[in-house]
Amino acid sequence: QPQRCVPPFKNIAFNLEADATNTCGSEGPEEYCLRSPRQSCKNCDANDPDKAHPSRYMTDSKWNPTWWQSQTLNKLAPGPVNLTFHLGRAYEITYIRMTFQSIRPESFAIYKRTSKDGAWVPLQYFSSSCESTYGHSSRELITIEDETKALCTERFSDMYPYSGGNVVFSTLEGRPSAWRADQNKALQVS
Ligand SMILES: *[C@@H]1O[C@H](CO)[C@@H](O)[C@H](O)[C@H]1NC(C)=O
Repeated sequence: QPQRCVPPFKNIAFNLEADATNTCGSEGPEEYCLRSPRQSCKNCDANDPDKAHPSRYMTDSKWNPTWWQSQTLNKLAPGPVNLTFHLGRAYEITYIRMTFQSIRPESFAIYKRTSKDGAWVPLQYFSSSCESTYGHSSRELITIEDETKALCTERFSDMYPYSGGNVVFSTLEGRPSAWRADQNKALQVS
Protein backbone atom coordinates (compact mmCIF):
# COMPACT_ATOMS: atom_id res chain seq x y z
CA GLN A 1 0.00 0.00 0.00
CA PRO A 2 1.37 3.45 -0.79
CA GLN A 3 1.82 5.50 2.37
CA ARG A 4 2.39 9.19 2.90
CA CYS A 5 5.91 9.91 4.11
CA VAL A 6 8.09 12.95 4.61
CA PRO A 7 11.63 12.22 3.48
CA PRO A 8 14.48 14.15 5.11
CA PHE A 9 15.33 17.43 3.41
CA LYS A 10 18.92 17.35 2.23
CA ASN A 11 21.32 19.25 0.01
CA ILE A 12 22.14 16.31 -2.23
CA ALA A 13 24.57 18.33 -4.35
CA PHE A 14 26.81 19.04 -1.36
CA ASN A 15 30.31 17.67 -2.06
CA LEU A 16 29.02 15.82 -5.12
CA GLU A 17 31.54 15.91 -7.94
CA ALA A 18 30.20 16.74 -11.38
CA ASP A 19 31.63 15.58 -14.69
CA ALA A 20 32.47 18.75 -16.60
CA THR A 21 33.21 18.57 -20.33
CA ASN A 22 35.33 21.72 -20.04
CA THR A 23 37.45 23.08 -17.18
CA CYS A 24 39.83 26.02 -17.39
CA GLY A 25 43.45 25.08 -16.81
CA SER A 26 42.96 21.32 -17.02
CA GLU A 27 45.66 21.06 -19.68
CA GLY A 28 48.10 23.54 -18.19
CA PRO A 29 47.98 27.24 -17.33
CA GLU A 30 45.78 29.45 -19.47
CA GLU A 31 43.96 32.73 -19.31
CA TYR A 32 40.23 33.20 -18.74
CA CYS A 33 38.35 36.45 -18.90
CA LEU A 34 35.39 37.75 -16.92
CA ARG A 35 33.40 40.90 -17.56
CA SER A 36 32.83 42.57 -14.24
CA PRO A 37 32.01 45.25 -15.34
CA ARG A 38 35.10 45.74 -17.48
CA GLN A 39 36.83 42.70 -18.89
CA SER A 40 39.39 41.29 -16.49
CA CYS A 41 41.58 38.30 -17.23
CA LYS A 42 43.26 35.89 -14.84
CA ASN A 43 45.11 32.61 -15.07
CA CYS A 44 43.77 29.20 -14.21
CA ASP A 45 45.89 26.11 -13.70
CA ALA A 46 44.76 22.74 -12.42
CA ASN A 47 48.21 22.09 -10.95
CA ASP A 48 48.38 25.27 -8.89
CA PRO A 49 46.08 25.13 -5.83
CA ASP A 50 45.68 28.91 -5.89
CA LYS A 51 44.56 28.92 -9.52
CA ALA A 52 42.62 25.66 -9.86
CA HIS A 53 38.86 25.70 -10.49
CA PRO A 54 37.82 22.03 -10.68
CA SER A 55 34.18 21.00 -10.79
CA ARG A 56 34.19 19.92 -7.13
CA TYR A 57 34.55 23.61 -6.23
CA MET A 58 30.91 24.01 -7.28
CA THR A 59 29.55 21.93 -4.45
CA ASP A 60 31.93 22.50 -1.53
CA SER A 61 31.39 24.75 1.45
CA LYS A 62 29.12 27.70 0.98
CA TRP A 63 31.13 29.66 3.58
CA ASN A 64 34.28 29.41 1.49
CA PRO A 65 33.09 30.36 -1.95
CA THR A 66 35.14 28.71 -4.65
CA TRP A 67 33.96 28.06 -8.16
CA TRP A 68 34.29 25.86 -11.18
CA GLN A 69 35.61 27.80 -14.14
CA SER A 70 35.23 26.87 -17.80
CA GLN A 71 37.59 28.07 -20.47
CA THR A 72 36.58 31.37 -21.99
CA LEU A 73 34.25 30.12 -24.71
CA ASN A 74 35.26 31.27 -28.15
CA LYS A 75 36.22 29.77 -31.50
CA LEU A 76 38.95 27.62 -29.94
CA ALA A 77 36.79 26.40 -27.09
CA PRO A 78 33.23 26.48 -28.38
CA GLY A 79 30.28 25.73 -26.14
CA PRO A 80 28.13 24.17 -25.02
CA VAL A 81 29.58 22.70 -21.83
CA ASN A 82 27.88 19.82 -20.04
CA LEU A 83 27.97 19.42 -16.28
CA THR A 84 26.66 16.03 -15.17
CA PHE A 85 25.82 15.18 -11.56
CA HIS A 86 25.45 11.49 -10.75
CA LEU A 87 23.01 11.32 -7.85
CA GLY A 88 23.26 7.53 -7.64
CA ARG A 89 19.64 6.91 -6.61
CA ALA A 90 16.17 8.38 -6.93
CA TYR A 91 15.34 11.66 -5.18
CA GLU A 92 12.31 13.88 -5.03
CA ILE A 93 13.95 17.16 -6.02
CA THR A 94 12.43 20.31 -4.53
CA TYR A 95 14.64 22.95 -6.04
CA ILE A 96 17.95 23.55 -7.74
CA ARG A 97 19.93 26.71 -7.04
CA MET A 98 23.07 27.83 -8.83
CA THR A 99 25.23 30.87 -8.16
CA PHE A 100 27.43 32.20 -10.91
CA GLN A 101 30.84 33.78 -10.44
CA SER A 102 30.61 35.37 -13.88
CA ILE A 103 27.66 36.73 -15.79
CA ARG A 104 24.90 34.13 -15.92
CA PRO A 105 24.71 32.19 -19.20
CA GLU A 106 22.69 33.60 -22.07
CA SER A 107 21.15 30.13 -22.50
CA PHE A 108 21.31 26.87 -20.60
CA ALA A 109 19.05 24.00 -19.65
CA ILE A 110 18.60 21.41 -16.91
CA TYR A 111 17.96 17.81 -17.94
CA LYS A 112 17.52 14.60 -15.98
CA ARG A 113 17.70 10.95 -16.80
CA THR A 114 16.73 8.01 -14.66
CA SER A 115 18.75 5.23 -16.27
CA LYS A 116 22.26 5.02 -17.62
CA ASP A 117 21.28 4.72 -21.25
CA GLY A 118 18.01 6.59 -21.00
CA ALA A 119 17.23 9.78 -22.87
CA TRP A 120 17.94 13.16 -21.26
CA VAL A 121 14.58 14.73 -20.48
CA PRO A 122 14.43 18.54 -20.25
CA LEU A 123 13.27 19.95 -16.90
CA GLN A 124 13.76 23.67 -17.47
CA TYR A 125 15.24 26.06 -20.02
CA PHE A 126 16.82 29.42 -19.16
CA SER A 127 17.43 31.80 -22.02
CA SER A 128 17.10 35.36 -23.17
CA SER A 129 16.22 33.88 -26.58
CA CYS A 130 13.77 31.10 -25.61
CA GLU A 131 12.02 30.87 -28.95
CA SER A 132 15.07 30.76 -31.22
CA THR A 133 17.31 28.71 -28.91
CA TYR A 134 14.89 26.16 -27.49
CA GLY A 135 11.74 26.53 -29.59
CA HIS A 136 9.62 27.41 -26.55
CA SER A 137 7.96 30.73 -25.93
CA SER A 138 8.75 32.19 -22.51
CA ARG A 139 4.99 32.73 -22.12
CA GLU A 140 3.99 29.06 -22.22
CA LEU A 141 2.00 27.75 -19.27
CA ILE A 142 1.67 24.27 -17.84
CA THR A 143 -1.65 22.55 -18.32
CA ILE A 144 -3.19 19.64 -16.43
CA GLU A 145 -2.67 17.46 -19.54
CA ASP A 146 1.09 17.92 -19.52
CA GLU A 147 2.24 18.57 -15.97
CA THR A 148 5.88 17.69 -16.60
CA LYS A 149 6.43 20.06 -19.51
CA ALA A 150 9.71 22.01 -19.42
CA LEU A 151 9.22 25.76 -19.56
CA CYS A 152 11.62 28.41 -20.77
CA THR A 153 12.19 31.49 -18.64
CA GLU A 154 14.03 34.71 -19.46
CA ARG A 155 14.10 35.67 -15.81
CA PHE A 156 17.68 34.59 -15.02
CA SER A 157 19.52 35.52 -18.21
CA ASP A 158 20.11 39.16 -17.41
CA MET A 159 23.68 40.54 -17.61
CA TYR A 160 23.35 41.98 -14.10
CA PRO A 161 24.69 41.25 -11.60
CA TYR A 162 28.08 40.65 -13.19
CA SER A 163 28.98 38.30 -10.35
CA GLY A 164 27.04 36.36 -7.74
CA GLY A 165 23.80 36.11 -9.73
CA ASN A 166 21.50 33.25 -8.79
CA VAL A 167 19.41 30.92 -10.91
CA VAL A 168 16.64 29.02 -9.17
CA PHE A 169 14.42 26.23 -10.44
CA SER A 170 11.56 25.15 -8.18
CA THR A 171 10.41 21.87 -9.61
CA LEU A 172 6.71 22.22 -8.76
CA GLU A 173 6.25 25.95 -9.37
CA GLY A 174 3.49 26.70 -11.84
CA ARG A 175 2.31 23.09 -12.08
CA PRO A 176 -1.46 22.73 -11.57
CA SER A 177 -1.19 19.65 -9.32
CA ALA A 178 1.72 20.96 -7.22
CA TRP A 179 -0.42 21.09 -4.07
CA ARG A 180 -1.19 17.38 -4.34
CA ALA A 181 2.03 16.18 -5.94
CA ASP A 182 2.04 13.18 -3.59
CA GLN A 183 -1.03 11.88 -5.44
CA ASN A 184 0.20 12.72 -8.91
CA LYS A 185 2.34 10.05 -10.60
CA ALA A 186 3.56 12.41 -13.32
CA LEU A 187 4.97 14.87 -10.77
CA GLN A 188 6.83 12.27 -8.77
CA VAL A 189 9.98 12.93 -10.67
CA SER A 190 12.22 10.20 -9.36
C1 LIG B 1 26.52 17.29 -24.00
O1 LIG B 1 25.38 16.47 -23.85
C2 LIG B 1 24.59 16.37 -25.02
C3 LIG B 1 23.34 15.57 -24.65
O2 LIG B 1 23.68 14.31 -24.10
C4 LIG B 1 25.40 15.70 -26.13
O3 LIG B 1 24.64 15.64 -27.30
C5 LIG B 1 26.67 16.52 -26.36
O4 LIG B 1 27.49 15.86 -27.30
C6 LIG B 1 27.44 16.73 -25.06
N1 LIG B 1 28.55 17.65 -25.29
C7 LIG B 1 29.78 17.36 -24.92
C8 LIG B 1 30.79 18.43 -25.19
O5 LIG B 1 30.10 16.31 -24.40
